[in-house]
Amino acid sequence: MNKSATQDPSIIKTVQFEVLRYNPEGNEAPRLQNYSVPVIRGMTVLDGLNWIKEHLDSSLSWRSSCRMGICGSCGMFINGLPRLACNNQIVHLHSDRVTVKPLPNYDIIRDLVPDLEGLFEKHRSVKPYLIRKDTEEQEKPTGEFFQSQQELLNYIQFAYCIKCGLCMSACPTVATSENYAGPQPLTAGWRYCADSRDEGLQERQEVLYSSYGVYRCHFAGACSQVCPKGVDPALAIQLLKKDAFLRSFGFGKKKKAGPVLPPVRDWTPGGKIPEAPAKTVPRKTE
Ligand code: SF4
Ligand code: FES
Repeated sequence: MNKSATQDPSIIKTVQFEVLRYNPEGNEAPRLQNYSVPVIRGMTVLDGLNWIKEHLDSSLSWRSSCRMGICGSCGMFINGLPRLACNNQIVHLHSDRVTVKPLPNYDIIRDLVPDLEGLFEKHRSVKPYLIRKDTEEQEKPTGEFFQSQQELLNYIQFAYCIKCGLCMSACPTVATSENYAGPQPLTAGWRYCADSRDEGLQERQEVLYSSYGVYRCHFAGACSQVCPKGVDPALAIQLLKKDAFLRSFGFGKKKKAGPVLPPVRDWTPGGKIPEAPAKTVPRKTE
């Protein structure tokens, strides 16, 4: 720790970071490296890694971007659980030791950087986008696809997935079966199948219900426990199974894609749109 850091009155404690270091291109086996990090209130594990990089060791590698739990790039194995480094404050770990390793169930590119290519490949395999029979309308839209609030509620929870891959690293089935699609891609599949505007179930079935699809899930539920966005992939997988079961008896949703509404013309603001709140911070230019 540098001298000025120890004298800073905002520092509430010092914790030991134990960080896994590994370069697959070198000859060295993975090893844990220790760093002392001064912690201030509100400091996240990602802030701790940034502090190490700035003050102690510029060679440490990890992936991050938004710093606010949105981009999904800072997934790491922190004190024994898959978590987002930017979404976890060091004091909330209730320990003076912070062990940071790359996410399990992925190859390591370097240090804390997992290789997520396999995850994205599986994600792409479920065709995670709206599929319609009227492709002409999609290519040259004449209006909006109608969707009621209830229809939105059928899938919105699953649309919050940020593709961080934490669920995949917590899943015991992914750990033992490389070809298993896994919680993230299956959830993405259900997110679109449950969408009233979609007509792509048939195109996704091959992946969703293959021998490496939903029936491989042993319902351990670890995916839902670690998901930082409350997506509940285990529920999505059970809903996919339920949907197939109902369809096999002819009770499946006879899904008719939502109609196209004509574009809104001559719209004038009405009383339904709430007023913007009063400004509390004036702009610098004002
Ligand atoms: S389901 Fe949750 S844990 Fe899995 S990739 Fe999406 S956000 Fe991350
Ligand atoms: S840096 Fe974007 S989710 Fe953590």
